[in-house]
This record gives sequence, structure tokens and C-alpha cells, in this order.
Amino acid sequence: RWTCVNGKLLPTEEALLPVEDRALQFGDGVYEVIRLYRGTPFALKQHLARLSASSAAIMLDYGCVENELQASLEAILQKASGQDGQIYIQVTRGTAIRNHRFPEHTRPNVICTFSPLPAKNAIQLLKTVTLPDERWMHCNIKATSLLPNILAKEKAYRHGADEAILYRSSEHITEGSSSNIFMVQSGTLITHPANQWILNGITRQYVLALAKSLQIPYEERVFSLQELLNADEVIVTSTLQEIAAVVEIDHHPVQNGCAGPLTRRLHEEFMGSLS
Ligand code: PDD
Repeated sequence: RWTCVNGKLLPTEEALLPVEDRALQFGDGVYEVIRLYRGTPFALKQHLARLSASSAAIMLDYGCVENELQASLEAILQKASGQDGQIYIQVTRGTAIRNHRFPEHTRPNVICTFSPLPAKNAIQLLKTVTLPDERWMHCNIKATSLLPNILAKEKAYRHGADEAILYRSSEHITEGSSSNIFMVQSGTLITHPANQWILNGITRQYVLALAKSLQIPYEERVFSLQELLNADEVIVTSTLQEIAAVVEIDHHPVQNGCAGPLTRRLHEEFMGSLS
């Protein structure tokens, strides 16, 4: 495992940030997780565009570290050469004496880490539970302040599930604690619109583009808990979970505990596009 901290390449165990880093004290930073397939980053351009948008949304000057980040990425990709894994990028507002107000003369701290992951081909089958979405109103920003997300994930695990499906009300399912949610209703793929209530996942966007090119009908609209429970198939998408089948919601089986036909088709197309 390798990390570039502010342009310096080190084994991850040796890479350090100051205790007054703003992300440590305030969660004041943005991040991306990018999947590497045999050394090649998946949708790198889209991830960097989202990082830039997240930075702008928290008034962080990403432009002043963009070139450095590019160089770090190149160094990290060299270390990753040919491997499967993940790249984690974090840009924080920098190091400053603790004060809620933004520091005036601080440059962002930039971390770029490579960790190997096993190559995955089989479709993952996930158990889920539904939990209230307790996050703020800007879930479109990929911010490092993730307490509500990790609490939901932990509660899901303690209920014997792999992922939490979050809702603002019984009429409004949003997304997973670290993923987007799709459901299939009579052959139509349905997912939450890309607005402030969800992160517009790169995998989500990929699946929508795939649906379009395969002429699978799709809708971006809010759906209810009841609709979710009655869906023919439920799908989780994320960089790390890729396209996964939900086989259980709140201890009730979905699609007889197997991946449904549309889920399998999307997963196959996704895997095929990587080879
Ligand atoms: N999370 N929604 C949330 C809240 C997420 O944290 C993620 C990804 C997604 C899916 O986005 P994408 O398809 O771009 O990975 C949706 C990453 C993987 C993480 O925090 O580890």
C-alpha cells in the first residue's frame, strides 16, 4: 500500500498528516474512491470532475492543488501497475490552529492512497435493512464528514445485514449508506433523482447510461418504502460494491434470495466492459 501526502510518496504506514489537519478536527474535506481494474482506473475523469465539484461546494480551492494531485496520481498508478485495487483521494482545507472559521493562508492537504483489492467477478448478494436517513441536506457533496453514514453501516452490520437503505420518510427512499439504490418495477429501472438528497454515484451514472444504450426503460424519481418492498429486483451500486443484488430487506427475501435477471444483465455488461 502506497500513499502520496502533499506530493511525497511513502508506504501508507509511514504517511502522516498533522494533528491540526482540518479534516481531522472538523471533517473539513472532500474525497473520492476510484476502482482500479488491472492497473486501470475506472471512470477517472468523472471522479476528478466530482472531486472538483465537491471542493467548489465547500468553498475549497481545488485549483491550487490540481497539478500536484495529477502528479500524485501518476506516481500512485505506477506503484499500482497491473493490480486490482482502490485509489482513495482526500483533499482537506489544510492545517491550521483550531478555529471554526476558514484559515486565511493555508493550502489544502492532499492525500492519494493505493490499496490492493481482490479482483471480483461474481455478483455480490447483499442483505439490507432500512434506516432513517439522518444526514444533512447536501448529500451530493462527497465530504469526509461521514458520521451518519458509518453509524448506519454499523447498525446494518449489527442487524446481520451488509448495507443500510436510507429513507427521509416512508415515501422517500434516498440511497445506501455508501451506495446508490435502484429498484426494478415491471422491467423499468427506477432510482432517486440526482439532487441534494443523494450522492450522484459514478456507478449510478454508468448504469443509467447502460440502460439507455440497451434500451432498458428507466426513471429517475423518488420511490417509497412500500414500492421498494414490492419491487421485482433491488440493486446496490457503488465503486466498491459495483453492481450488487439485494436479496433481503428488513429480513424479507427479495427475488427469492437470488440476483434477478435485469441485475444479472447489468452486472454482466459492466464486467464485460472492463475486459
Ligand atoms: N462511496 N452514495 C454514497 C453515500 C456513497 O458513499 C457512495 C460511494 C455512493 C456510490 O458512488 P460511486 O458509484 O461513485 O462509488 C453513493 C464510496 C465508495 C466510499 O465512501 O467508500
